[in-house]
Amino acid sequence: MKITKAVIPAAGLGTRVLPATKAMPKEMYPIVDKPAIQYIVEEAVKSGITDILIITNRGKSMIEDHFDRNPELENALEKASKNEILNAIKPISSLANIYFVRQKETKGLGHAIKCARSFVGNEPFAVLYGDDVIVSDEPVCLQLIKAYEKFGLGVVGAKEVPEKDIGKYGSLKLKNIENNYYMCTDMVEKPTPDKVMSLFSILGRCVLPPEIFEILDETLPGAGNEIQLTDAMKVLAQKKGMIAVDFVGKRYDIGNKLGIVKAVVEMALKHPEIGEDFRKYLSSELKF
Ligand code: UTP
Repeated sequence: MKITKAVIPAAGLGTRVLPATKAMPKEMYPIVDKPAIQYIVEEAVKSGITDILIITNRGKSMIEDHFDRNPELENALEKASKNEILNAIKPISSLANIYFVRQKETKGLGHAIKCARSFVGNEPFAVLYGDDVIVSDEPVCLQLIKAYEKFGLGVVGAKEVPEKDIGKYGSLKLKNIENNYYMCTDMVEKPTPDKVMSLFSILGRCVLPPEIFEILDETLPGAGNEIQLTDAMKVLAQKKGMIAVDFVGKRYDIGNKLGIVKAVVEMALKHPEIGEDFRKYLSSELKF
């Protein structure tokens, strides 16, 4: 079955980047001139996704406004003949069919995914974490969809993380199948050192079969007293196996301060309008 639906959870509290996220969703953080979540929606669209559900909550209406039309702004730009910028903003509202649902309480990523049940129905679907921007030639979401089509099993995007950091992520039990494909038969969220299975962790993307919802119904709060998606995927991995794809792409974690700064600096260096000037500025600053 062709995967055409994606869910973007964006209802987290963003406590690691307070006070910036007190009133502004972290998913709207501008990476030079484009909010993080627009990169994510564009990745989904380039991967063949036509319908996207964004999970929001109170205080995230800015995300809905961003993917809506703004006729007043469009008219003003048209009158001022600012066609280039008009052409950049007008298509945002028609990138895909974008829907929104509110997670009424912030009870964890697994709980957020449960809110997508009626949107997803009985189809496999992609999940793109709202605070993970991944830059790559072939969209990472598409790399995962291809793995789903090849193996017919749920898929997680994975990368090795430094040993000192594995306790902040999830750790995967893996066996290489071929190239960058691994069979994953177990996983653990935020492991203590004695529970680490490998340094491979799930980073930002997965493709899930609809049976994940039944598993989530049975999933009790785990690490941080939140309903963890990893705990539900662990059941799926133990039961049927999941595929881990060591994806090709560079990931920026917009949920932490250093991740935001790295994303902004690297995108600014590549930016067609300011890249050259920014490079000169940065090299003069770094002489100190
Ligand atoms: P994170 O754990 O990185 O987000 O969740 P967070 O909870 O906002 O982080 P901190 O620790 O408070 O800084 C990964 C993704 O899942 C979403 C987040 O918005 C983020 O995109 N999420 C998380 C939800 O939608 N609902 C939740 O209850 C938790």
